[in-house]
Amino acid sequence: MQREATNKITPWEVCDKIDYEKLVKEFGVTKIDKKLQDSLKGLHPILSRGVYFSHRDFDKWISNAEKGKKVSILTGRGPSAKLHIGHLIPYLAAKSLQDKFDCEVYIPISDDEKFFVKEGLKYEEAIKLSRDNILDLIALGFKPGKTFIFEDFVYTDIYRYAAKTAKRISYSTAKAVFGLKPENNVGWSFYPAMQAAHILFPQFHKGKHMTLVPVGIDQDPFIRVTRDIAEHSDFNFEKPAAIHAKFIPSLYGDAKMSCVDSLGLNVIFLDDDKKTVESKIKKYAFSGGKDTLQEHREKGGNPDIDISFQYLKMFFEPDDKKLQKIHDDYKSGKMLTSELKQILIQKVNDFLEEHQKKKKLAEKQIDKFILK
Ligand code: TRP
Repeated sequence: MQREATNKITPWEVCDKIDYEKLVKEFGVTKIDKKLQDSLKGLHPILSRGVYFSHRDFDKWISNAEKGKKVSILTGRGPSAKLHIGHLIPYLAAKSLQDKFDCEVYIPISDDEKFFVKEGLKYEEAIKLSRDNILDLIALGFKPGKTFIFEDFVYTDIYRYAAKTAKRISYSTAKAVFGLKPENNVGWSFYPAMQAAHILFPQFHKGKHMTLVPVGIDQDPFIRVTRDIAEHSDFNFEKPAAIHAKFIPSLYGDAKMSCVDSLGLNVIFLDDDKKTVESKIKKYAFSGGKDTLQEHREKGGNPDIDISFQYLKMFFEPDDKKLQKIHDDYKSGKMLTSELKQILIQKVNDFLEEHQKKKKLAEKQIDKFILK
């Protein structure tokens, strides 16, 4: 069943269908237009095929990068669970842009945020999850020496920057922008200052320059608040730029992938084994195929709503020609759902096999990435 598009969206609650056009207006962000989209050709599919739909000053960031001015990228992780494919969206974007522009990437890990927000999450557990998530991120292949990861609970130097940003964010702003409620603990109400400190960290650390923050649109409130204080005379920084990703549906074809069902069957975790991947995709990946073989052969499938096709498009088939052929064959009925799913299963399992190997190696590299 299709849900009504609602726009109840704060960083801590988004599981509904989203009306992106409406969000662009409400949030006062700029749509990524054709010219900007065309300039992303050759980058990872997550950037080149329209998952990122809106931005703040991304054109300016690119132009600085192309002119050889110093730029950086920053995107963070709130470690509340182990990672699945959907979590990779901002990191795939960051890595692809790092490869292209050879710039620094910063990855703050907000273990404090999840500790404040998740009632049941214990301090020790938050720290353990951080470690696991960090290994997954390193495994993506970021450049050592140009990529800096820090955890709020470990890299406590971040506190003095958070104090500086906290001083410039009024309580009423935080309350309005983040929908804070009176019963929320004070750690939670302070946290926006911490994330603002993350976003300005590359400038605190390396001086004034433009930082790009790839995020899900639910994180834009943090960007807005940070942009509002960046130029204050306390800092004299550049306003950070941002690009906003759409929420990629779960295997069920509905809602945001981060709304994992209780058994974790609607997402592919980075530690899933081959059998699990095969069974999840076969059983649960929402299909745009027809009900009977005969009808499918006659009328063809609908790749636009087919989750297997969408995952190939966004993550796993970078070759435009191959993707187009799959699209056309599926649409004409020449390719069956079972065949399409088999392509995805193979691609996902190849990716995960590599990833799981690299994650093991990451344990030895971790010191090259963690800020002390
Ligand atoms: N709040 C983000 C989340 O829950 C994680 C995060 C922490 C972040 N610091 C950040 C994202 C800085 C972007 C920029 O997913």
